[in-house]
Amino acid sequence: MVRGQQQKNPPLRLAVFASGTGSNFRAIVDSIEDGKLNAVVVGLISNNPDAGAIVFAESKQIPCEIVNKKRYPDESEHDAKILNILEQWKTNFIILAGYMKMINPLIVEKYKNRILNIHPALLPSFGGKGMYGLHVHEAVIEYGVKFSGVTVHIVNNEYDAGPVVLQRVVPVLDDDTPQSLQQRILKEEHIIYTEAIQLFAENRITVSGRRVFVQRDHAKN
Ligand code: GAR
Repeated sequence: MVRGQQQKNPPLRLAVFASGTGSNFRAIVDSIEDGKLNAVVVGLISNNPDAGAIVFAESKQIPCEIVNKKRYPDESEHDAKILNILEQWKTNFIILAGYMKMINPLIVEKYKNRILNIHPALLPSFGGKGMYGLHVHEAVIEYGVKFSGVTVHIVNNEYDAGPVVLQRVVPVLDDDTPQSLQQRILKEEHIIYTEAIQLFAENRITVSGRRVFVQRDHAKN
């Protein structure tokens, strides 16, 4: 293709799932507004009515839905509701941004290789059930590893075990507390998540078993 004549793909239609503060969600919205990410956020799904992510979504007029066990005690109804919302929004890509629930296998299958999650450590270390937020950084410091980092991975049916898309290393400093390490890692999360999503937006990702290959951008080289 001739340089400068590259056809732009249609923007990804992202549904974001978040349970907490939503700083990754904000970073994604910022990246879209800055023109770094070819996507639109079609809506936010949260299980937590008190999530900071909801306040932010509302401030941006992004549609929000709260789906949790309290409102939908029946699991199949809960999952059907989520699928229904995703369809209504014409979602074609899902971003988990601090969403503390497993995604139903039916949704994983329907959006195969199109659901990403971010984890604040270098998977497969310090991942799995119960490993989220500060718990991860506490475990990292307690173990004494010298490097931690960020992993963006494709969601499959096991906790934190899907194919790795991108990783970034962050050193663990002698005087780090779980909070200081979390803050440094979060900064990297905000950069790397946009990069990973944009690779999908540009159709540059190929998944082969556990391996994810990134096609080089010839126009930039
Ligand atoms: C982020 O650090 C994310 O990596 C982590 O939750 C935090 C959410 O922060 N996710 C996990 O631990 C998943 N196992 P945010 O709400 O500010 O984006």
